[in-house]
Order: sequence, then C-alpha cells, then structure tokens
Amino acid sequence: MGDNFVEIELERLKEAGLYRKLRRVEGDQGPTLVLDGREVINFSSNNYLGLANHPALGEAAKSAIDRYGCGTGASRLISGNMTLHEELESKIAEFKGTEAALVFNSGFQVNTGVVSTLVSEGDTVFSDALNHASIIDGCRLSRAKVAVYGHLDMNHLEGELKQSTPARRKLIVSESLFSMDGDEAPLADIVGLAERYGAMVMVDEAHATGVYEPNGAGLVAMLGLGERVFVQMGTLGKALGGFGAYIAGSKALRELLINRCRSFIFTTSLPPAVMAMGIAAIDLVGKEPERRQALADNSERLRAGLHGLGYLLGDSSRQILPLMVGDANRCMELSQRLLKRGVFAHGIRPPTVPPGTSRLRITLMATHTDKQINQALETFKEAKD
Ligand SMILES: Cc1ncc(COP(=O)(O)O)c(C=O)c1O
Repeated sequence: MGDNFVEIELERLKEAGLYRKLRRVEGDQGPTLVLDGREVINFSSNNYLGLANHPALGEAAKSAIDRYGCGTGASRLISGNMTLHEELESKIAEFKGTEAALVFNSGFQVNTGVVSTLVSEGDTVFSDALNHASIIDGCRLSRAKVAVYGHLDMNHLEGELKQSTPARRKLIVSESLFSMDGDEAPLADIVGLAERYGAMVMVDEAHATGVYEPNGAGLVAMLGLGERVFVQMGTLGKALGGFGAYIAGSKALRELLINRCRSFIFTTSLPPAVMAMGIAAIDLVGKEPERRQALADNSERLRAGLHGLGYLLGDSSRQILPLMVGDANRCMELSQRLLKRGVFAHGIRPPTVPPGTSRLRITLMATHTDKQINQALETFKEAKD
C-alpha cells in the first residue's frame, strides 16, 4: 500500500519534470567542482566569498577540536553552551551592530522557530509571496493569520496592514536579497509601514550577508536600518563558508528566544569546530574587503555577458542571476546542455519557485577567474536554443 503511493508519487514528479536527484561532489567547494566524476565550472553555490575551502577556517576548526573536542553532548540550555558559542555571538553582534546575537543550528531552524515564537493565534504575520520555504513553514507553524503580500508590493502590504487592526501582534517578514530572484526588498519602505501600523520587522539576510558594503553585514546595515529592524537573521553556511545560522537583535529578544524558541531549545548545540569556523569567517570578511569587490565585479561581468547574449535575468543586481526559462522541462534541458559542456548552472523548478517561472539560478563567487567567466559565456552562447 505504502510502496504503491511512493511509486505513483515519483512517477507523477517525473511526468511533470519535477523529479530531483542528488549529484555527488568529490573534493572541495571551489569555483570548479568535481561533479559526478567530471570537473565543471561551478555557478551553483552559495559559497559567495569562496570561504568554504579557506585554510583559515580549516585551521580554526582543527584547533577547536584539539582544545574542546568534537561534540557538545547536549542542548545549549543543558550543558551544551560552550565559551565558543558565546564568543561567536559577541562577534556576530559586533559585526551586525546589534546589542546581542543568538546562534542556531541552521537558518531553517531560525525561521521556523523565530516566526512561531514572535506570533501565534490571534496575531498576523505578513509575508512576501517569494519568501523562503523556511519562512513559509514558520508562518504555518505559528498559527497566526498569514497575510501573503505580492512580491515587493508595498501597496498590497499596506492594504493588508490596514485590514489587520484587531491583531494582537503583527510581524512583517521578508528576505533582503531574495534567494531565487536576486532582487532586493524595499526595506526602508517596509520599516516605515511597520512603524505606521505597529508591526515588528524580521529580515532574512541569508544571501545578503558578506555581500553588501560597507562591511559585509547585510542590506539592513548598509541602509542604516539596524535600530528599526526587530530581528535580523543570517546564516554561517553561505558567504561565511561554514555552517549554522543566527539572529541579531536586542538582548531581550535573545532572552525570549532562549526561553521560548523551540527550534533553539530542543536540539543539540553546534559543535566547537563549527563555532570556530564562524569566528574565523567573520574575521576574514572584515580583513579582506577585496573578496566583496571581486564578487561584485564577477557578477557584473557575467550579467553583462549574458545580457549581451539575449538572456533574461529578471531584476537581479548582485551575485544571484536568475536566467529565466519558464517551463520546467526546458529549464532542465538547458541546464543539462550546459553541464555536458562543463558549466554547472542548476535548474530551479516548482515548488521552489512558482509554476511557469523555472530558471537557472546562476551564482557567482569571489574566486571565479576571468577565464572561467569567459569560458562560461562561450558555453552559454553555444547552449542557447
Ligand atoms: C533565504 C533563506 N533563508 C534561510 C535559509 C536556510 O538556511 P540554512 O541553509 O542555514 O538552513 C536559506 C537557504 O538555505 C535561504 O535561502
């Protein structure tokens, strides 16, 4: 009975062009990868600054293991709160310019746990239509009323806020740099509306951290909105090259989450090696601003080249380039043609993106060379329909 359901479901996914399978990477995560046994140029990684294989992170991890061992053996509230967790949290708070920070095991856990801690039955959460799955799940889990507003549509958001007066608490949640579209939320407008209608703001900086000037802290910091955003979240696993995630905000928020946030409380804490990598990565972001510049330059070079070839790239302005295809099967065919020629640009299909908007999600790294980008442009030219 169960088997039958599984086979039918898999068949349905295949017919719809939505079947997924894992690809195997050998070796380290760089601008080139050995993928399923073949070397390819990698345009499908969130390792934006090229820190995932940086020796400083490796050295930090090794010495943390030597000094503190491998695992923590418990959750933070029992006996798993080590000095390194607090050291990393101070570092993140300083980086973000907030009073406090709290480390979580993953960004997925931040979003599900924090949204459902801040709002519950009787409250309303306002969520951009293209927010990440983990935010969507956090909204569902909260049991608050969920008002989904059109992507970046401030009139729609204001309309929803106006209608929501009876709500006990209100929370607006948005990504800053959107993961699949590479466009930016109008954060100043969001914060303005939140103040007018008495709502809290939570901003997901998963893809913005490490990327924006002046110090890589994110779009909130670049716009000087830190004081007006209640929760900033980010991850340590993308531009910062390691693993884990965090929130940055007030001391009171940190305390509330330690006391009430289930995805923080009921899980074994991250191991010392991971904390040490996070600390080393934030140090590198501060010491090596040239990585940010190289990422920006590489992104512009590839964007201009792809535009020149007639590809449509949406409204992206940073390191995430959505090459729009539309149909899921055609999108995967283009991805395959590129892969055969040595360029890995992953196809993104529903349910990750809305139906009819399948695209290649092309992402740049600071460590791509001009030669690799030129080679990729040649390949995109050959692979065009
Ligand atoms: C916008 C966004 N938020 C949150 C997450 C989850 O972060 P993590 O990978 O640390 O679970 C991701 C991606 O994974 C993301 O793209």
